[in-house]
Amino acid sequence: MIQYADTAPAESPAYDARNIELSDKQSEAWHAFDLLPQYGEMLYGGGKGGGKTWFGCLKVYAECRRIIDQFKLPRQEYPIPVACMVRQRGVDFTDTVLATWKQLIPPDKYELHVGNREIIIEGRVQIDYGGLDDQASLSKFQGSEYEIIWIDQGEECSLDAVAALRGSRRRKINDQRLHYRSLFTCNPANCWLKDEFVDRLDPGNVFKPALWRDNPHLPPGYAESLRRAYRHRPELLAAMLEGRWDVFASANCCIRGDWVLDAIGRDIVNAGSRRRVLAVDVAREGDDETVVYGLLGTTPIRRQVWGKKETMYTANRVAVEARQFGAEIIVIDANAIGAGPADRLVEMGFDVLCTMTGAGATDPSRFVNLRAEIWDHAGKMFEAGDVAWMEDDEQLRRELCWPEYRFKAGGRMLIESKEELKSPKRMGKSPDYADSYVLGLAGLAWLEKSGFRKGDVLRFREGTKAAKVTEALSPLSYDYGRRQLDRERAGAKRW
Ligand SMILES: Nc1ncnc2c1ncn2[C@@H]1O[C@H](COP(=O)(O)OP(=O)(O)OP(=O)(O)O)[C@@H](O)[C@H]1O
Ligand SMILES: [Mg+2]
Repeated sequence: MIQYADTAPAESPAYDARNIELSDKQSEAWHAFDLLPQYGEMLYGGGKGGGKTWFGCLKVYAECRRIIDQFKLPRQEYPIPVACMVRQRGVDFTDTVLATWKQLIPPDKYELHVGNREIIIEGRVQIDYGGLDDQASLSKFQGSEYEIIWIDQGEECSLDAVAALRGSRRRKINDQRLHYRSLFTCNPANCWLKDEFVDRLDPGNVFKPALWRDNPHLPPGYAESLRRAYRHRPELLAAMLEGRWDVFASANCCIRGDWVLDAIGRDIVNAGSRRRVLAVDVAREGDDETVVYGLLGTTPIRRQVWGKKETMYTANRVAVEARQFGAEIIVIDANAIGAGPADRLVEMGFDVLCTMTGAGATDPSRFVNLRAEIWDHAGKMFEAGDVAWMEDDEQLRRELCWPEYRFKAGGRMLIESKEELKSPKRMGKSPDYADSYVLGLAGLAWLEKSGFRKGDVLRFREGTKAAKVTEALSPLSYDYGRRQLDRERAGAKRW
């Protein structure tokens, strides 16, 4: 059994006050949650009706009871906040989690303060609850301290809000640390939870799948009702009925996770050139980040990240980076907000290649816009084994696998936009790291093709101060078929 400093051994009697019997899967999850290490997290997620919300209510209640016993807490005027229970939308919380709570926990065990969104257990400890869509609740969660956070339907929540909650796990009682943990419950979706618990799992964290089959308390015919409800959406049916995550694993993701993993530690001499490109993705909105990658060939060597700042700050900081890195060229996304820094960098005498991601592709017969083309180009490089990283860059690796492609009329390819990816239903964040990196690969392709050498002067089109990728990279087609062939001919090892 794992022992936690300053806390009692991890054994929580099931304080299921109404003698509710847990299903086998719920018991398994119960014990797994008890055994989580300090700051451990558990995802209890899968198909519909697995008993997740019931589990969450019972578990949070039980943990509150445990704390009361462990510290022999008296009734007090200001009960101690120890946990929070959250959904993305406050109304959904009230309709589902709170309704379940009322059904499960005997009314004499708690007081519900709807105005403050608090549940007081026996006048001793407090649970904050609510929706992340409500600024007052969000501020409260952020400003408070807890032992445990529980997010139901976590696939709806943005990673930024979740990060704030994660940071609030630091409650102490009598100056003693508690056993800080997170519980996430959700249905399968292509979201941060899949990324963090299903596709990979940090040491100490636990993923417990949930299925309707594991819940003996469902009414007969439940599975059939699901089949009917989701018959128009086969992938959702597979997710809700069978708890399948791979249906979202994006047969249509542009860059596959295993391709990126394969790039780590690949022989740097064999893959890519050794030219130096500085790639810049400029923050558009408040919560975006400006990300600068210094690439030596395809290898990320330097990375700088900062929040949204004014043009001059960005331009100056990029200039410093470019000098220090010895960049031959700066590639910058000059769409809207990036245009100012791009112009300034040209003024300062740097060679700047600008992309207009929304603008036309170099091959408009195949791509709806340049963004799609640049991402596709990066995907092909990864697929062909022409990318080499010295070490893992976790955030970049994950973001590279986020965008999915689809085809528009005429068979032209489109990639998910930053805005789409920012929606809570997707990743809750724009892939700024990845956007910057794929831009760097496009810049590298141009350097190789054009034969541009440092000291050459970019030819500027009339009226613009920097060369546009659309003109410079014609076309950006990545000739990976030929490279594969060359490699086979040369008897190179299969990467
Ligand atoms: N331990 C239990 N004892 C008795 N009934 C239970 C138990 N656990 C779950 N149930 C029953 O199963 C139903 C589904 O449980 P719950 O709402 O927790 O599932 P869920 O996994 O959260 O579903 P969804 O994916 O739709 O959110 C509940 O309405 C309840 O009737
Ligand atoms: Mg539920």
